[in-house]
Amino acid sequence: MKRVFSGIQPTGEPHLGNYLGAFRQWVEGQDQKENFFCIVDLHSLTAPYDPEGLRERTRKLAAVLFAVGISPEKSTLFIQSHVSAHAEACWLLNCITPIGWLQKMTQFKEKFTKQESVGMGLLDYPVLMACDILLYDADEVPVGDDQKQHVELARNIAGRFNHLYGDFFVPPEPVIPKIAARVMGLDDPATKMSKSAASIRGHAIGVLDDPKEIERSFKRAKTDLFNEIRFSDDQERAGVNNLLSIYQAITGKGREEVEADFANARGYGDLKMGVAEIVIEALRPIREESDKYLNDPVALDTMLAKGAEQAREVAMPKLREMQEKMGLLVGM
Ligand code: TYM
Repeated sequence: MKRVFSGIQPTGEPHLGNYLGAFRQWVEGQDQKENFFCIVDLHSLTAPYDPEGLRERTRKLAAVLFAVGISPEKSTLFIQSHVSAHAEACWLLNCITPIGWLQKMTQFKEKFTKQESVGMGLLDYPVLMACDILLYDADEVPVGDDQKQHVELARNIAGRFNHLYGDFFVPPEPVIPKIAARVMGLDDPATKMSKSAASIRGHAIGVLDDPKEIERSFKRAKTDLFNEIRFSDDQERAGVNNLLSIYQAITGKGREEVEADFANARGYGDLKMGVAEIVIEALRPIREESDKYLNDPVALDTMLAKGAEQAREVAMPKLREMQEKMGLLVGM
């Protein structure tokens, strides 16, 4: 059975991009694969945050993930900092990862210029992510398009370790959805929908937004002056293309069918409302279900503790083996 690992940072509110790029794939693969899903709280320390807010967002994200359909019977969902092997393995892999590989990462270069002060953690981010994946011998990593480079780096780090210490790590493959692998911001279709920009009104659709908010955000979505509802790679039509892609990802229809659904639309207003409607319906059960988990924090924490225990059973022996391969005195 294939092993799957994926993760999400508890920064900001989970949004439609996370849902279409990641969560849906995670839920759909649950029956055929052995799954580990992780709320990567250590990663979220690499950008400015407030400690109380982080705790709250971590629990909320866990509630959302269970509400989306991650089943504790089929998958292991846990919090990264609860399994100390991740941070420990990170030191070990730091010692074999060339700095140059990290300085070349797109996300590092982007954030480096945006953040006022940059900690070591930001540069090291992809090494910790490699540990997440490699400790579980994951074959597949279902992610949105933006994480492809990070998974490829994990693969390279695995290769380097195997070369230095003998065959040990499974080289992971990124698994990217065919549609909506990069959901764009509604306010600016040239930038990816992101949690950090999600506080900007009209940028992102939060998974827990209420129907009125969702409608409002879609009404404000940036389009163009062509007044033509069709898929296009043309940058000037990126807003309409983004709306159609969201509609396509949720309905599962082909491109022609999607365009046919809007053949009688009177304009972009109808398109926006059509997309808003199906998004509202797709997210409604998640909002309702996550309240159930949030209203019972003890039960939620128990589920997460069980997840961490299951994760430790896999990660700790792998860490021990890794230490042994690297020449450390293990088990004393
Ligand atoms: P994060 O927290 O930014 O996003 C979580 C998942 O959502 C996907 N995603 C998107 N997909 C489509 N359109 C978008 N606009 C969009 N925005 C986000 C991401 O691709 C991701 O799959 N570095 C990771 C977290 C991580 C991880 C891991 C992932 C840490 N360790 C190990 C996989 C395996 C991140 O910041 O994801």
